Amino acid sequence: KRFFIDGNKLAGKRFVVTAGPTYEAIDPVRFIGNHSSGKMGVSIAKALLSMGAEVDLILGPSKQEIHHERLNRVDVKSAEDMLAAVQAVYDKVDGGVFAAAVADYRPKTQAAQKIKKKADSLTIELVKNPDVLGWAGANKKEQFLVGFALETNNALEHGKGKLARKNLDAIIINTLEDKGAGFGGDTNKITLLEKDNNFHNFELKSKDDVAYDIVNFIANKL
Ligand code: CTP
Ligand code: CA
Repeated sequence: KRFFIDGNKLAGKRFVVTAGPTYEAIDPVRFIGNHSSGKMGVSIAKALLSMGAEVDLILGPSKQEIHHERLNRVDVKSAEDMLAAVQAVYDKVDGGVFAAAVADYRPKTQAAQKIKKKADSLTIELVKNPDVLGWAGANKKEQFLVGFALETNNALEHGKGKLARKNLDAIIINTLEDKGAGFGGDTNKITLLEKDNNFHNFELKSKDDVAYDIVNFIANKL
């Protein structure tokens, strides 16, 4: 019902959304990943679609289901894949919401064959991954950019730092301190911080309702 009312608010606009975890290969059968479910980003994509936008959803490994005629879904595994997929559409979008839980590091080398068990200890050297949202911020033209920050302490301060460093228009801060917020669950509690330092606190809600609040904010800004 609510979505019906806003059905045309973003008609003619196109957004890129990143969602889910990334998997960084160690060998052909193993990876480094995280517990992101992809729910928050998929809910964002649904809210954008319901307001009439076209969406490029760049989705890491996730069980979420989403189908829509205005959806261009690109399934990716690693952070490097995710960056390439974002780069392929970035010039065509009016904005982006970066909800993916991108692995900060990946194994320096990927073994061509399954690693065999030998010594009592094994060290895997990690190297830094590209910052997908950081790249988008550095290459921003007219795009309206929204990032996420999941913090365990000094959330507002860390969020402000990321907003500035990544050249964002707004950042969604959620803290693991809030019961019901964050990974895996169906609810989230967010603070939306704008680049002019305005901030909005929202109640604990379903991820679909949180997504609606975020997309509604974006629609009012465009
Ligand atoms: N992000 C990204 N690519 C990365 C790392 C992060 O696109 N390699 C995006 C996330 O999708 C999120 C925002 O950047 O929208 C902030 O992610 P976060 O992990 O909180 O920040 P980092 O810059 O990685 O800093 P740190 O993990 O040290 O707090
Ligand atoms: Ca990180």
